[in-house]
Amino acid sequence: MRSTLLIPALAAIVAALPAPAPQEIDLDLFVNIPTPTIIQVTGVPDQTSTYDTKAILASATAASSISVAITDAAASTPSVVKRAACAAEPVGYGPVTNQPNDDAASFLNNPVYGNTAKSAAIPVGYQQTFSNLNASSSAYGYITFTNLKSYNTTQCALKCSKAAGCMGFNIYFERNPSKTPDKTQCPNPASLTQIRCVLWGGAVTTANTVNTGRKWEQFQVVVAGSNGYVSQNIAAPSGYSDATFLDKAAINAPFDTLGYNTYMGSKLFTSGPFNATLCAEACNAQNVYNLAHPPTDGSPVQTCQFFNTYIMSLNGKTALGQYCAMYSSAWSNKYATNTGAWNGNDRYTIGSSYTFFNSTNPGTTPNAAAAIAQAKEEIGVSSLQNYCSTFLGYNDLNAYATATSTRVPVSTVTSTSTLKIKASSSSSTVSSSVSKASSSLSKRAVASSIPTPTPLTKYPGSILSSACSMLVTSVPKTATVTVSTATVTGATSRSTVVKTITTTTR
Ligand SMILES: *[C@@H]1O[C@H](CO)[C@@H](O)[C@H](O)[C@H]1NC(C)=O
Ligand SMILES: *[C@@H]1O[C@H](CO)[C@@H](O)[C@H](O)[C@H]1NC(C)=O
Ligand SMILES: *[C@@H]1O[C@H](CO)[C@@H](O)[C@H](O)[C@H]1NC(C)=O
Ligand SMILES: *[C@@H]1O[C@H](CO)[C@@H](O)[C@H](O)[C@H]1NC(C)=O
Repeated sequence: MRSTLLIPALAAIVAALPAPAPQEIDLDLFVNIPTPTIIQVTGVPDQTSTYDTKAILASATAASSISVAITDAAASTPSVVKRAACAAEPVGYGPVTNQPNDDAASFLNNPVYGNTAKSAAIPVGYQQTFSNLNASSSAYGYITFTNLKSYNTTQCALKCSKAAGCMGFNIYFERNPSKTPDKTQCPNPASLTQIRCVLWGGAVTTANTVNTGRKWEQFQVVVAGSNGYVSQNIAAPSGYSDATFLDKAAINAPFDTLGYNTYMGSKLFTSGPFNATLCAEACNAQNVYNLAHPPTDGSPVQTCQFFNTYIMSLNGKTALGQYCAMYSSAWSNKYATNTGAWNGNDRYTIGSSYTFFNSTNPGTTPNAAAAIAQAKEEIGVSSLQNYCSTFLGYNDLNAYATATSTRVPVSTVTSTSTLKIKASSSSSTVSSSVSKASSSLSKRAVASSIPTPTPLTKYPGSILSSACSMLVTSVPKTATVTVSTATVTGATSRSTVVKTITTTTR
């Protein structure tokens, strides 16, 4: 198994890490996505929807992931073939209900459909998501459907396994007219029963199984014995490991043991079947860009070696798109602890979550050079050079600490005999507070008695020492030290790079 490659690389990351996980689901990517329409399976069986993956990729990886031209999956549904009034409809092979009447109520009350559905086998490589509903699914990324000759879940699963991008299927009995209904000539023909096998590019769930049927002239189309299954496996993009299935959770990676943030940003795809290769290509595009624009300070280039991709859904119902979170090194499934996010009253949930790592290089972790570069950048952005002076022992504590006004996130400088920076959980405006700290501690004592400012607690002393040495040379004995309260959570320049990339129109 290629996945054993991951173990040595990750073995080091076991210690409890002090800092919070540095990535959050970027809900801004979802703001302009329209609610997908419910898809009715009609028309010609075995007519597969096609998607332009280049266009999908280009739209999501361009500068703004938000201004994506959305191709609604419904538009790709095969068009309904116009048939002559009262012409024969496709032959159905399911048991027909005409007792006590040939109507929807009798169909729904016929136990044969439910009994078949409940006793159906769970195909190898699939997981059952629901059993015996009276509705069909409308999941993410419609692919195709087939009318089967028997209610055979294994047969439907084989079709799914063969169809590129198929993540799940829905199999059910549908009450259909034997003739095309016509307003005057045959408004309510005798019924037949189709056994539908419908393939989807996203997870097939109870929540998205809501199509109870429709009225066709006087004829009532209804559904019974509907079962749902999702794939436990999806194809690995070339050069990547096999998929690791994380189900309903996303990776919530901490900083690495040296404090480095391996998270590189995210992409969102909003049409077409779930396709891990889209993420692999987004990773690659990011790498091409990053390698072409290396950091000017000589610090290492961050490249994407691992990604987590999943379907994001709104309020447990609507699949919004395929999300890709990119990382510079691999994380094991024990970090799959993020099960979604709230935005006001809206709940964003995760499904069909998988990870993949670059099979020749799952990323270097921990990465001292990268951690030092990040620490240096963070100290600069947070104006914590003064802490460095003290940390390195250049300075004694004849210092004035001045807090300047800032909005979010906030650290406050408190008045104590040692310089102490305390994180405040609320965001508020801190007015200037001045504390005179006087002491005649020795250099050594000073360095060890200084509490580390919150943003820097994730770094071990060796990393801080290296980063500080690059920033601070020497400070006069009686320096006036000004500490600004600006705190930065995470390495901002990295996410900026992600947002400005424009490499993908090919
Ligand atoms: C399906 O319909 C039948 C008949 O109306 C009903 O007894 C059954 O509870 C329904 N099943 C579900 C899951 O709603
Ligand atoms: C279901 O389909 C599979 C694959 O086509 C076949 O091997 C199997 O015999 C079928 N099962 C039944 C009960 O017909
Ligand atoms: C997935 O994306 C790749 C790369 O764009 C493409 O070649 C492939 O056909 C796609 N697969 C599906 C099922 O759309
Ligand atoms: C895997 O990583 C190596 C080293 O960074 C890189 O050269 C290679 O292109 C990567 N493979 C893929 C498929 O991205």
